[in-house]
Amino acid sequence: MLIAQISDTHIAEAGHRTFGVAPMAENLAACVADINAQPLPVDVVLVSGDITNDGTEGQARRAAAILSGLDCPYFVIPGNHDDRATLRKVFGKAACPAPDGDFLSFTVPGFPLHLVALDSTIPDAPGGEICAARARWLEQALAEGGDKPALLFLHHPPLKCGVPESDQDGFLGAECLREIVAGQDNIERVLCGHIHLHTHTRWAGTVVTTAPSIGMPLALDLTQSHPSEFLLDVPSYLLHHWTPERSLITHPVRVAPLDGPFPFVERR
Ligand SMILES: [Fe+2]
Ligand SMILES: [Fe+2]
Repeated sequence: MLIAQISDTHIAEAGHRTFGVAPMAENLAACVADINAQPLPVDVVLVSGDITNDGTEGQARRAAAILSGLDCPYFVIPGNHDDRATLRKVFGKAACPAPDGDFLSFTVPGFPLHLVALDSTIPDAPGGEICAARARWLEQALAEGGDKPALLFLHHPPLKCGVPESDQDGFLGAECLREIVAGQDNIERVLCGHIHLHTHTRWAGTVVTTAPSIGMPLALDLTQSHPSEFLLDVPSYLLHHWTPERSLITHPVRVAPLDGPFPFVERR
């Protein structure tokens, strides 16, 4: 099974670049084309939040129009830049099959991995949260999958990743989420976005992976001494390859022309 993860598309209004400089609609279109062209067909695409830059319906519709070019099903969860009601309205049940209610959390049946989408957003706030209602829902959603290997995806990484602003914004209920996840032995991976960096961290007995943005990576500053800034990069996304040996192998994909391929032989 092949899963593509697109994150933090931050689509601006038609005719505009994100923050005036980032061509995110073009980047998303390039990712969609690259996913469609994968030699091993991609089974499903997970879009892990911050789909819009400002939560508007126009931005969500622009994102949906580009994502509708995918040859496979795709699913969206909200990030802190999104508006839940707008995502629900624009993407509908096909891409956001959350039951009616406050949160855009849902499970996706029919794949070798039990896909669990968790809404980690707080309206009008940048940080993450799992409240009591979402904790109850998550326990039930994970139980639905039985022993099947599971993939949990949510926008906010539930740990401090070394990015000053998001570490400060925090994740309410992170300890509760950690306990729920640690209580399962079948969660292959927790997939997140939000920090615009590609990272892997051991957490709660599994691994948290954050996807890079599709073209606005954070300028890496491990000294944490400057306010966060972003760079303009080529479009990129993650391919998660689930194999019959029950391994989930993650490949970052950069959508850019490269030189090669070359055989591993000495050239004169
Ligand atoms: Fe983001
Ligand atoms: Fe975010």
